[in-house]
Amino acid sequence: MFKRMQSMQMQAVHCFRIVSPNQHEYRAIIALHNTNLGPALGGCRCLHYRHEQLAFDDAMRLAQGMSYKAALANVEQGGGKSVILLPSNVDLGDIEREFLFTWFGQCVESLAGQYITAMDVGTQVSDMDVVARETRHVASASNIGDPAESTALGVMVGIRAALDFNSSENIMNTAIRGKTFAIQGLGHVGWRVAKQLLNQGGKVIAADPDEEKCWQAQALGMEVVGINNILTQECDVLVPCALGGIINDDSALNLRCKILAGSANNQLSHDGIAEILNNRNILYAPDYIINAGGLIFAAMQYAQQGDRSLLELKIKQKIEGIYDTLIEIFKQAQSENKNINEVANALAVSRLECKHEIKRPNKGAVYDAA
Ligand code: NAI
Repeated sequence: MFKRMQSMQMQAVHCFRIVSPNQHEYRAIIALHNTNLGPALGGCRCLHYRHEQLAFDDAMRLAQGMSYKAALANVEQGGGKSVILLPSNVDLGDIEREFLFTWFGQCVESLAGQYITAMDVGTQVSDMDVVARETRHVASASNIGDPAESTALGVMVGIRAALDFNSSENIMNTAIRGKTFAIQGLGHVGWRVAKQLLNQGGKVIAADPDEEKCWQAQALGMEVVGINNILTQECDVLVPCALGGIINDDSALNLRCKILAGSANNQLSHDGIAEILNNRNILYAPDYIINAGGLIFAAMQYAQQGDRSLLELKIKQKIEGIYDTLIEIFKQAQSENKNINEVANALAVSRLECKHEIKRPNKGAVYDAA
């Protein structure tokens, strides 16, 4: 375990267990990757894991990803993640949610602000409301709102940066009008991005297994294709907003886009795919940079004290910063002939290392989140 922590540069991994009144044993892991830039922020997953080592690996890998994401989003936040391991004999529908999330809130509180939790796979806003009764260190309770709006804004900013970088005239604000965008997934983020692209004159091709969403898309003027055909559409920008791991050794060779820029987490099935994209001249906007709008929203909502009137504007300005970060990384990758992931990761690590003092949470602060 310590070897694994060492290889991932993990700061701490906290373990908790409790037995419920129904005699179910629940376990939780809170992994803190790095708090050099601020307390660790990251969602809580609540899942069945085949083996506890997989849960540790999941928590640590995701916590590391959050550190990198926060560092490149320029928020004063570290990276953390928690997982709740559901007992194998408890179905998702039978979880004692009130009991579980009250206890989980107490686990978070015991870390005195080093970790700020949020919603993730298997948890809901209502769970975070229960957590918020036990601790103020929660960033996605119902009084905070849906981060998808901010994530979608970040994706639009990222698409703009990639189009500008790729434009032969090197102009700012390359027009969306006349360009073709293929969007995988019309959920909270994808739907918003699709509508904005359409409103700005882009041609939108979309795919989603949900028929209702497809009808709505067609009614607005989007072209709908089957979910097995979206990745191979000829387009300027492929915008994955559904699943992870979709760009693998096979699909990478069949893409017909010039740019890959969407919100889905972990789009590349392994690091080597970035090299394939590079060789095929497909510009990739690393997912953890382009989808940081939601993190920026959560972090700034959580940290805001006092006057909230300018908060929306400040969040928007911070999200606009995704543009410069991407351009910096695109330029460096080009000039050093490196793949974009490599350059982005190195930049994140250097930002994490440049502040060596460990920031303590401000105990006197009053947060609005709880
Ligand atoms: P969502 O669950 O609201 O939407 C996902 C959509 O993808 C659904 O409409 C679903 O029907 C569709 N879908 C599922 N399988 C598909 C397939 N094979 N082909 C095409 N569409 C398919 O999720 P949301 O919130 O829109 O997030 C989208 C992605 O962005 C996820 O990977 C998520 O992890 C990531 N993300 C989301 C953030 C947010 O603020 N919501 C923040 C950062 C990342």
